[in-house]
Amino acid sequence: MSDAPDPSSAANAMWGGRFAAGPDAIMQAINASIGFDKRLYAQDIRGSRAHAAMLAAQGILTSRDAEAIGEGLLTVLSEIEAGGFPFRVELEDIHMNVEARLKELIGEPAGRLHTARSRNDQVAVDFRLWVRDQCDAAISGIEALMRAFLAQAEAGADWVMPGFTHLQTAQPVTWGHHMLAYVEMLARDRSRFVDARARMNECPLGAAALAGTGFPIDRHMTAAALGFDRPTANSLDSVSDRDFALEFLSASAICALHLSRFAEELVIWSSAQFRFVRLSDRWTTGSSIMPQKKNPDAAELLRAKMGRVLGAAVALFTVMKGLPLTYSKDMQEDKEQVFDAADTLMLGLAAMTGMVGDMQANRESLAAAAASGFSTATDLADWLVRELNLPFRDAHHVTGTLVARAEARGCDLPDLSLAEMQEVHPGIREDVFAVLGVENSVRSRTSYGGTAPDNVRAQAARWKELLGDAA
Ligand code: ARG
Repeated sequence: MSDAPDPSSAANAMWGGRFAAGPDAIMQAINASIGFDKRLYAQDIRGSRAHAAMLAAQGILTSRDAEAIGEGLLTVLSEIEAGGFPFRVELEDIHMNVEARLKELIGEPAGRLHTARSRNDQVAVDFRLWVRDQCDAAISGIEALMRAFLAQAEAGADWVMPGFTHLQTAQPVTWGHHMLAYVEMLARDRSRFVDARARMNECPLGAAALAGTGFPIDRHMTAAALGFDRPTANSLDSVSDRDFALEFLSASAICALHLSRFAEELVIWSSAQFRFVRLSDRWTTGSSIMPQKKNPDAAELLRAKMGRVLGAAVALFTVMKGLPLTYSKDMQEDKEQVFDAADTLMLGLAAMTGMVGDMQANRESLAAAAASGFSTATDLADWLVRELNLPFRDAHHVTGTLVARAEARGCDLPDLSLAEMQEVHPGIREDVFAVLGVENSVRSRTSYGGTAPDNVRAQAARWKELLGDAA
């Protein structure tokens, strides 16, 4: 009897040495990850090529074997990219599917690739490479959306609209200022992905199963080859850490939250009751029964998809909590969550960029709404403080009385006569009417960060410069 592996055995060809029988079908179904981790094929092959080149440089593999492995892996890569690659569920995951095909292609040297490596560090490096790419994709998707908001802000730096608190008219603001509020949020989102990317940019390859290896590997070489800043410093942490995925999901959830907030504004603003914006046919759908309808479905879906991204974050936090060091198979559950969240976020960013570029503000509706709802009441109170030296609390009271009068008459503040105003406070003069106009109101709000059109133009110019788009 020979001890050599029997390739005809039902036991796994990669680790079946001590197994006499193959897995139960249900075991295979719950265990296999190939159905989803095949998305890591390019990262897996890239990692393996770097590993093989390092093994050869260190004299652990002959350069002949390493060359055969490197070439063979490129063949596997092109086979997968051509489509129709026969992924096999009995080979569990992408790592073993690639290696098994490599064995078919080049024979014996394929079996040497896994020297000084484990699937634990292999999956850790593959997944980090994938998530790192997604950080880059998120960053450029966010920048595109920032540019779309910036274009709106520049076009409408001085268009007046109502600013809301409690969704009640509060004070007039400018359209550009509202658009730039989203630019601020997105800039924070962007910086979260930039930070997460920098933190995750350490290479776990070479941690092997958990303890490192006795082979004289060069982890700095593989780290550099794969574009990492350095190798990770602790082998146990290297194979058990999924912070990079958790950070990606956290940053994604906050970004998706921002998308959902603007989506909600679009839903409200495009309604017949508001008419603040118009979305074209490209971003709306009709109703099968009500011919007049034009529904903002994309915005509604964006509002909903935030739940999906947050769900992925909660799911992975829950998987990871309480896991003892180091690798546990629980961690295989990381991928579907991250894949789904990344797909959802990228689609959401693209859809929002499309809608923001497409939306047409209705300046007349915005201006009319800005002037209604006693939106300049604060300007009136401020005038009483400035011109008549009233304490702000008294000015607030006088203004409140005037608002009540206007409300009783069914008119707005500028429609009250000077005589009516003087009944409430005799010191009020004709020039008060200037501050009751919305244009003057927004122009006066020049404090740093305020809504004045000149501020908006200056902030838009600053953002263009930061995005490298300055004229
Ligand atoms: N498919 C596995 C995963 O995604 C790869 C690592 C398997 N490691 C192990 N010791 N079984 O986590």
